[in-house]
Amino acid sequence: MLHIRRAELEELCTKIFMAMGLPAEDARDSAEVLVSADARGIRSHGVAHLERYANGLKAGIIKSNATPVLLHETPCSIVLDAQGGVGLSLAKKAMKTVISKAGQSGMAAASVRNSNHFGIAGYYSEMAARNDMIGISMTNTAALGVPTFAREVAFGTNPIAFAAPALEGRLFSLDMATTTVTRGAVEVCLREGQKIPPFWAVGKDGLATTDPVSLLDDMLFQRGGGLLPLGGSGKSGAGYKGYGLAVMVDILCAIASGGTFGLSGVAGYTFSNKDIFTQFKPEVKSVKKKQMRKLENVLNELNMNSIDILFIDVEGFELNVIKGIDLNEFDIKCICIKAVPFTQQTKELRKLICSKGYKLIANISSDEIYVKIQNNY
Ligand SMILES: NC(=O)c1ccc[n+]([C@@H]2O[C@H](COP(=O)([O-])OP(=O)(O)OC[C@H]3O[C@@H](n4cnc5c(N)ncnc54)[C@H](O)[C@@H]3O)[C@@H](O)[C@H]2O)c1
Repeated sequence: MLHIRRAELEELCTKIFMAMGLPAEDARDSAEVLVSADARGIRSHGVAHLERYANGLKAGIIKSNATPVLLHETPCSIVLDAQGGVGLSLAKKAMKTVISKAGQSGMAAASVRNSNHFGIAGYYSEMAARNDMIGISMTNTAALGVPTFAREVAFGTNPIAFAAPALEGRLFSLDMATTTVTRGAVEVCLREGQKIPPFWAVGKDGLATTDPVSLLDDMLFQRGGGLLPLGGSGKSGAGYKGYGLAVMVDILCAIASGGTFGLSGVAGYTFSNKDIFTQFKPEVKSVKKKQMRKLENVLNELNMNSIDILFIDVEGFELNVIKGIDLNEFDIKCICIKAVPFTQQTKELRKLICSKGYKLIANISSDEIYVKIQNNY
């Protein structure tokens, strides 16, 4: 294993960021956030992500020299449009402002829209804690998470970080994605040639997958499949709670800042000390209407994705997997077998589904639709 001193790694990353066109201070701040992820063992969000930033900068998705625009300011809040700038350094600046305002007002919050990936959320909440304040930081991300019972992505990995100070520099720090794992964790498995555990994600057929290659590829091109919410699939591990938390982060980060969310989502983020909610009560009526309309869109997107339906793509399906699913526990009301071929395996599958209380109600193209028959029917 290669060992490198933290200061040297920070120096190297700073130089790389500067070579990519970042001003010296932004490059140093960005390097510090990345290296701090590695230093605390979060390999998924450390310097291994340099390539991602380099590609973003090269493609012009991330702007190296963007000047953020201040959209709104009160003694205890700011809303910024990041103009597509580098998330890492911008987030640090925003949290510095929040800390300074909270020092004056007792509490403060910032919301940033139109930004880019900001690395580990915990870096920013801990900045507040190191200034003897409670810190909260969240970001929404591109859609990578699949709602409970769905098989298509609708929300990001949307992390929540919370930090509170104790004595002598000790602090409590919670920093977690609201999906079971981050995309970065799947990338680590890919780099190390490992399979992913079956409870991390579902493939495009809506069933558990262990293949990091197809999962990352399908997520990239939004072909279906994605990461499960915290708590996993169905109801048994209370995955719907992770789903709810992820949507909450989308609302706080994207709706509050006027940014993007869900399928159109790229990072917006929010920091706060003590109380986030009062700061984002929209003061202007027309803004409030606009935000409510946006939330309406989020809800429509999620509803489309949340039908209690199990899709089974017969091509390459594993009868044993289906046998293993407790359909009662999952409260699945409808099953759709896609592209039914006339094989022995399909016959067995039909028998299995009917034995669990489902009835064939329709043949659409070559798909078969089964619904759960209630006892009192
Ligand atoms: N910027 C982005 O777009 C983005 C998106 C998602 C996640 N992230 C970041 O990815 C990082 C990893 O997220 P994650 O959800 O995989 O984290 P994780 O599951 O590794 O850890 C989540 C939390 O649980 C704690 N923890 C871990 N093991 C524990 C144990 N055995 N006992 C007690 N506590 C334990 C950790 O300290 C952390 O606070 C976070 O820093 C997060 O902010 C960033």
